Amino acid sequence: MRRKLAAGNWKMNGLGSSLAELETLSKAENTRQTDILICPPATLLSRAAAMSADSQVMVGGQDCHAAITGAHTGDISAEMLRDAGAEMIILGHSERRADHNEFDEHIRAKARAVFETGLTAVICMGESLAEREADNTLDIIGGQLAGSIPDNATGENLVVAYEPIWAIGTGKVPTLAQIGEVHDFIRARLERRFGAGVGRSVRLLYGGSVKPDNAADIFSVSNVDGALVGGASLKAADFQVIIDALDAT
Ligand code: 13P
Repeated sequence: MRRKLAAGNWKMNGLGSSLAELETLSKAENTRQTDILICPPATLLSRAAAMSADSQVMVGGQDCHAAITGAHTGDISAEMLRDAGAEMIILGHSERRADHNEFDEHIRAKARAVFETGLTAVICMGESLAEREADNTLDIIGGQLAGSIPDNATGENLVVAYEPIWAIGTGKVPTLAQIGEVHDFIRARLERRFGAGVGRSVRLLYGGSVKPDNAADIFSVSNVDGALVGGASLKAADFQVIIDALDAT
């Protein structure tokens, strides 16, 4: 049985005052079936970790460098994020692929660093609108899966997030059939590459305009084990509705 995962990606949003939202989430009565992850900006991570320490909420990073230490001014390593309290690290988000020219090979190298550090990588992938309209979605996802995931992935150190670029921050969401098609495809590819045991144990998240009012429908789709949520994770009240919807599936 895969545990469900409700993950919030705060992106470049959040000052010290935003931790009040995390405090609310940490104090909520959540069932033990659903893992909850908040990835605040790195500046808030250690305060967030301290605040959520006695709760069901885990905290994580939004990116890391592929090296563990070294002369890389301005970068942060997986080990540093772990030291600050991170349990998981998002990698390969489409915003990083676009803003920082990250390609699958970089993401794979970063994932190796995350695995070495004993943390879990949440590796993101997704097609652009042009790729969707040209009917290339599965080819794109297949390439990103093959290119960005290291060979030593397991159900513990890897989570895959399917985030169609055109659905991020737009209010547009694929149909449930489209989400199901991609998630079933990812599951089949993982089973083929890693064997049924590992392939079935990796959690698959959907991300892109998940909101309180569409979460339950999305969570009803097969092979959707949770969500990676941007905007709706910034307010505890919204994110709690999404957590509750996941818990109820
Ligand atoms: P939104 O939920 O704001 O569309 O963002 C999704 C996302 O990019 C999460 O990583």
